[in-house]
Amino acid sequence: MTTRYRVEYALKTHRRDQLIEWVKGLLAVPFVLLSQPTALFGQDGIHGTDEMARNAHERYAQIMSDVEGLINDHISRQKEGTHTHSKLKLLVPTVGVFFTPLLLRNAFEWQDQRRYISSRRFVAPSFNDIRLILNTAQVMSLVKHSRLDLVTFDGDVTLYDDGQSLTDDNPAIPRILELMRSGTRIGIVTAAGYTEASKYYGRLHGLLDAIATSDLHDDVKKNLIILGGEASYLFQFTGESPDRLLPIPRKEWSLEEMQSWTQDDVTELLDIAEKALRSCVDSMRLKADILRKERAVGIIPVAGFKLSREQLEETVLVCQKTLEMTPVGKRLPFCAFNGGSDVFIDIGDKSWGVLSCQRYFGGIAGNRSLHVGDQFLSIGANDFKARLACTTAWIASPTETVALLDEISQLSKAHSPLGTEANLKS
Ligand code: IMP
Ligand code: MG
Repeated sequence: MTTRYRVEYALKTHRRDQLIEWVKGLLAVPFVLLSQPTALFGQDGIHGTDEMARNAHERYAQIMSDVEGLINDHISRQKEGTHTHSKLKLLVPTVGVFFTPLLLRNAFEWQDQRRYISSRRFVAPSFNDIRLILNTAQVMSLVKHSRLDLVTFDGDVTLYDDGQSLTDDNPAIPRILELMRSGTRIGIVTAAGYTEASKYYGRLHGLLDAIATSDLHDDVKKNLIILGGEASYLFQFTGESPDRLLPIPRKEWSLEEMQSWTQDDVTELLDIAEKALRSCVDSMRLKADILRKERAVGIIPVAGFKLSREQLEETVLVCQKTLEMTPVGKRLPFCAFNGGSDVFIDIGDKSWGVLSCQRYFGGIAGNRSLHVGDQFLSIGANDFKARLACTTAWIASPTETVALLDEISQLSKAHSPLGTEANLKS
């Protein structure tokens, strides 16, 4: 490998989402051909701009229809097991499986009415535009084709700001209650790994208190669970205890495959990870402490210091590559990720966490289950693995999560017997 290639490969590919980049590239062509930056100085004024926006809208929408078609073709091949030879796979080698079709054209129309993508003359359709169109397309498909039986949320950055707690003024709370009222089960699938219910109560008390004091039926209140430490600790809402959570023994909810994860392997993997972390702390002189837990090991900055993005990423990549090369790292699933200000290596990952939630609620299928998270890059990000278990939405802040929940509510109403398809376009 040439150095240049190695730099591109090792350091860049995991920082891009190839499907999004590819769609961005497709949309860049009509943008370049149709955008009219000089209209600012021209005679046509606002009329020329309107005409441009109409043309751009039509071409962008056509591209989204074509991508939707390629995804449908990929899905039909999934059923035959030949999706690894689909045209989409040739064009975007990293695509995996899709749990549902994506209504990309409708989603583009919806987002264009809100973001005015087609009206822009200087800024081409961006990564964030496409990420949000994909989220809308996913939600549209879920509410149209199947019931949304389970929504799982990541914690930090998804429900509350990094390192903060879910307090009682959090605008996601009434929206989560609305989902529960309509029969959707809720899981909080977070890396935050604590053995005690009180610690989770400390982080999530706003939501737990709101459920406790709500008018939801007691059976419905139990439809909220927390899966902490990626896939390590399960707690269920209960009205019976002051911290509102009942710990559920692992053997009652973990999948058969997880029961074969031995304590010896857990210890061995964490020992290797701890050594790798220590070598990073030493070599980069990091002002950080190592924190070893029952099912995780991490580094957290010493009070008053911050680790830089480069230090965090280097540490994740060292740990990931070190563990990947060991026999225990091949046997036992683990998740090495950059938490924004810390780095953790956890036993298991969020695919196991979401699968465990689906199982605990009686076997919910991946195409009726949505995971909402902020970390979807392929290395160093912990929500990425949830894509193996269910449909996903990639948000960038708690505000976007609230907007997504509003979209779910609005689109569900449009698809309910009382709503009309026409509402989808408004
Ligand atoms: P998430 O975004 O909800 O998955 O939470 C990730 C954050 O939880 C990390 O960045 C850490 O700050 C925090 N955390 C606390 N305990 C653990 C643990 O045992 N493993 C991983 N992260 C942890
Ligand atoms: Mg997060």
